[in-house]
Amino acid sequence: MISEEIPDTYSGKSIIIKNCVKKFADITALNGLSFDINEGEIFSILGPNGAGKTTLINIMNGLLKPNKGEVFVGGHNIKTDLNEIKKK
Ligand SMILES: Nc1ncnc2c1ncn2[C@@H]1O[C@H](COP(=O)(O)OP(=O)(O)O)[C@@H](O)[C@H]1O
Ligand SMILES: [Mg+2]
Repeated sequence: MISEEIPDTYSGKSIIIKNCVKKFADITALNGLSFDINEGEIFSILGPNGAGKTTLINIMNGLLKPNKGEVFVGGHNIKTDLNEIKKK
């Protein structure tokens, strides 16, 4: 399980999003989004077209970089540990 690789402060969390901002030119797709998902929790992302769902998923999988904020997937920081995230 991933819990062995997660620092103490992140134990029990599979996803952590902190103050995530993503802009495309003058469009702000994500405006300071924060939430976390517990390990083993099932979640869904709901919202109308243009709400930023795909943008968020693409930040979590490394296809896009956020302008601001911290994102951890499986205890790994997308800024420094994308390869570990992709392995999972
Ligand atoms: N590559 C891009 N270039 C410019 N604007 C984009 C791009 N991707 C998404 N957007 C804009 O960001 C906002 C969020 O889009 P998106 O994440 O695709 O929403 P959803 O998946 O919830 O429909 C929309 O206003 C969209 O037009
Ligand atoms: Mg979409």
